[in-house]
Formats: sequence, C-alpha cells, structure tokens
Amino acid sequence: MEKKRILTGIRPTGKLHFGHYFGAVCNWVKLQDQYQSFFEIADVQALTDNFNNPEKVRMNVREVTIDLLSLGIDPKKSTIFVQSTIPEIAELTVYYSNLVTMARLYRNPTVKTEIKQKKALFGNTGESVTYGFVGYPVSQAADITAFEGACVPVGEDQLPLIEQTREIVHKFNTIYGETLVVPEPVLSNNPRIKGLDGNEKMGKSLGNAIYLSDTREDIEKKIMSAVTDANKIRKDDPANPDVCMVYYYHKLLNNPNIKTVCGECKNGARGCVTCKKELIEVMNAFLEPIQKKRYYYETHPKEVDEILIEGSRYARQIAKSTMNNVRKSMQIDYFNEEI
Ligand code: TRP
Ligand code: SF4
Repeated sequence: MEKKRILTGIRPTGKLHFGHYFGAVCNWVKLQDQYQSFFEIADVQALTDNFNNPEKVRMNVREVTIDLLSLGIDPKKSTIFVQSTIPEIAELTVYYSNLVTMARLYRNPTVKTEIKQKKALFGNTGESVTYGFVGYPVSQAADITAFEGACVPVGEDQLPLIEQTREIVHKFNTIYGETLVVPEPVLSNNPRIKGLDGNEKMGKSLGNAIYLSDTREDIEKKIMSAVTDANKIRKDDPANPDVCMVYYYHKLLNNPNIKTVCGECKNGARGCVTCKKELIEVMNAFLEPIQKKRYYYETHPKEVDEILIEGSRYARQIAKSTMNNVRKSMQIDYFNEEI
C-alpha cells in the first residue's frame, strides 16, 4: 500500500534556529519514515512579505535547504522542492481565490495577527497590507491541495490556515463536483521554543535566537548572556532553575546530567558561570554533527541544487495531475493537447 502523504512548507527568510528545529523540523525528520513527505521551500509565500527584498529570499532558498538536509531531512526518503518552480500552485491560487471572501480572509486569526503586527510597524494606514499578503492563505491552500490527499504537520499557529484550506476544498467540491481531497492537520505536540531572553518565542526579529549554524564563539557569547534567575546574585545563592533559560536549554538538549544541574542550582552548590560553561559543551556536542553536514553541503552547492531540481520535478508531476483534474471539473479543459 502507498504511504500517506504529508506536505509542509517553510518560508526561506533566514537561517533556521532552535525554535524551528525543536518546534517543527525534528518532528518532520521522524515523519519522513511513516509518510511520503513533501517539504516546500515557500519562496512565493516569503515574497508576499519580502517582495521588495528578492536577494534575501533567493539566498535563503539554499540556506534553508542546507539547514533541512543537515538536520536530517533525507532526499532519498523525502521530496524537497521550491514553490516557484511549480506554476500549477499559482494557477490553483487564482481559481481558489474566487471561493474565498475578503471578509473571511480578514477574519483568519493568523492573518489578523500578522496585519496587527504590520500596523504596529508601519502605522495605522493599512497601506502596507497588500492583496498578495491577505491572500496568502489561498496560496497555501493551493500548496496543500496540489499534492492530493496530503496531511499537514502543523503547530497550533497554522491551524487557521488548514481550516481555511478545508473550507476552500469543500466549496470547490460543492460547486465543481468531488475533485479535491480535504486535508487533515497532523498535530504535533512540539512546544514553542523560548528565546535566550526568556521570551515565550524564539525568533529572528526578536534577536533572541540560537542558530543551527552558530559558531562556537556565537554560542559562547549567547549562552553567557542568557537570562538566569535574577534573584541569584552570588554563585552560592540557591536559585530557581524553572525561571532560568540556561536550565531550559539543558533540558531541551537532554543533558544526561540534568538532575545534578537542578539539584545543585536549588541548593546553591552551582555557580551560573560553571552551569553556562557546561551548557556550551552540551550545545556544541549537539551541533557538531549537524554542522559537519552543513559544511559538506556548503562546499557541494551543485549537490544541493540537484536535490532541489529533482525534488521540484517530482513535485511538479503530481501538481500537474491535480491541475488536470481541476481543469476538467471547472470545465476549462478545452483541448486535449498541451498548448
Ligand atoms: N505558512 C507557513 C509558515 O509560515 C509555511 C507554509 C507554506 C506552509 N506553505 C505551507 C505550511 C503549506 C504548511 C503547509 O510557517
Ligand atoms: Fe540557571 Fe544554572 Fe544559574 Fe541555576 S545555576 S540559575 S540553572 S544558570
């Protein structure tokens, strides 16, 4: 029996950090054994926000691909492809856009939050909100449905986008006849990863991220300035590890010594500097094999391109077949030959 399909996407807007890995990608690495997996480098979606910064998107298509490969996405098991190489996705987006009202898009909680953030950045004029941006959930519906029957591994923040896709599919099937498969979310219980400053979210724009490509020096600098229990003044003061980011990352990285870290912190037998140095070692040990692979791909750019070309070609075949079905259902299959 054919394995079920999953599809998920990632915007190529920067190198990946711990939030991406522990929040999503480590789960994808596991899923690729169970599912026929598609990982989309969502450059078209990245451009909705970065249309005036094409160099950034272009550069990060390869950076993000290298990150995914280094983290264990295996091109022998999975398909990695670039969104803009699949014109059928853009085509589907156009037809789906008739099936969504503006009001519904503005009500989408993810879009709503993002518009609020933009207004905070650019002022309350609304001028910064483009048609393409408000419509990106429609384009994401096209991403998902192009790969017929694909389930979508998501975190909670993406659920409204899956719901939007399901509504579009229902409407399409009602109007044009049963054509598309309603996608299901595959919920992961991966946590949202906290930042070095104790913020609930690690993010590039928050300046509190640890990157998978950070050098030893970067890691040292970042960990040495990570937020610890502010009430601990002297190195033998007892402290509360639960409010300390250093302890949080010890746990995240599965330090086998975690019980000792916790006990010594609580009874004042451990200084923060020692504790941070131990974390730096644990983190570097975790990063070493990832960075070795990263170095390999950085020095073999042709191989990275080959993976993307092959993946995109394979993905396109599937999207083409979906597009053919859609054309038939919509009665726009005028000719039996390709134009
Ligand atoms: N919107 C997702 C994000 O910002 C990225 C994405 C693009 C995606 N296309 C997708 C996720 C399709 C799931 C399915 O992280
Ligand atoms: Fe945090 Fe370690 Fe200091 Fe405790 S000893 S507050 S866990 S850095």
